[in-house]
Amino acid sequence: MTVIRGATTIAQDDKEEIRKAVGELLEQIESRNGLARSEVMSIVFSSTSDIHSYYPAKAAREAGFESCSLFSAQEPEIDGGLKLCIRAMLFVEKNLTPTHVYLRGAKSLRKDIAQKINIAIDGPAGSGKSTIAKRLAEDLHILYLDTGAMYRACALKALDAGIDVESEEQICDMLRGLSLNIEYENGAQKTVLDGKDVSEEIRRPRVSMAASTVSKYRSVRLKMVEKQREIAQKMSCVLDGRDIGTFVLPEADFKFYLTASPEVRAKRRYDELVAKGYSVDFDALREEIVRRDEQDMNREIAPLKQADDAVLVDTSDLTVEEVLKTVKRKMQERI
Ligand code: DC
Repeated sequence: MTVIRGATTIAQDDKEEIRKAVGELLEQIESRNGLARSEVMSIVFSSTSDIHSYYPAKAAREAGFESCSLFSAQEPEIDGGLKLCIRAMLFVEKNLTPTHVYLRGAKSLRKDIAQKINIAIDGPAGSGKSTIAKRLAEDLHILYLDTGAMYRACALKALDAGIDVESEEQICDMLRGLSLNIEYENGAQKTVLDGKDVSEEIRRPRVSMAASTVSKYRSVRLKMVEKQREIAQKMSCVLDGRDIGTFVLPEADFKFYLTASPEVRAKRRYDELVAKGYSVDFDALREEIVRRDEQDMNREIAPLKQADDAVLVDTSDLTVEEVLKTVKRKMQERI
């Protein structure tokens, strides 16, 4: 048996609106999960306390769910909760990996119910993603997954082995023997390559461009994405990267796309590297960042781009605290 969740909001408490919304929600759940109607054993609905005009279970009967058992209940009101929201839980006969469906801004999360949440933060280098993702994860007491570290580890292995990162064939061969593990120590991510902690080494400037290059290859991406999905499936986490909201987790609960001017992004990277003791040429770094953006945005598979439903935050003139506040406020508005 599988349990599939779904929710939708309605524009107003009106019989026709409820019938239409319930019909649409159930149809989407069926089609996105490849379900036949006869496989749905029962559906439990709950609606927020501002919905009175119609019984969602009745709307489901009318939408053609004739033989399954149906039930509707009303939720108690909570402060700051979603308005005019109908939630559904479907119990289906077959075993499958469920695709939960949230329509019209109805997210799975109720403020008073602890659930697994996945937050996607995408954007170009130096946009502030990792700082914000880390802080957000700390504040929410959930995991932070730096997906860029995985591509960096792959690039590091190639560079150390003298493999040409421009050769997809050689990188594919190398991939077969790659042992990459993401571990956590006191909440901090440790990237372990062939049994060795390479968390610091992968930050070296020479690794950045090489990581962008190896991340173009389909076999590399598929291997990394599989690991990322496996982690996100199991636990609440904030993931930062280039394709989290568009490709890795298109159903993420919250999506943000952070950006900033190339000048500001280069300055941030410059300060970071100088603080670590590297001697860097600012203009060269700026140029590299622009080239990396171009490569990441124009690759064939899962390029860097803003997901249609991601919130855009330009961090050029904002402090970390201001970005964090904006992100949290946006999340609050959607709960
Ligand atoms: O975020 P970062 O600078 O550590 O990422 C290094 C490179 O890895 C980046 O230029 C492109 C690639 N990358 C990717 O393709 N997809 C991700 N989800 C994360 C990083």
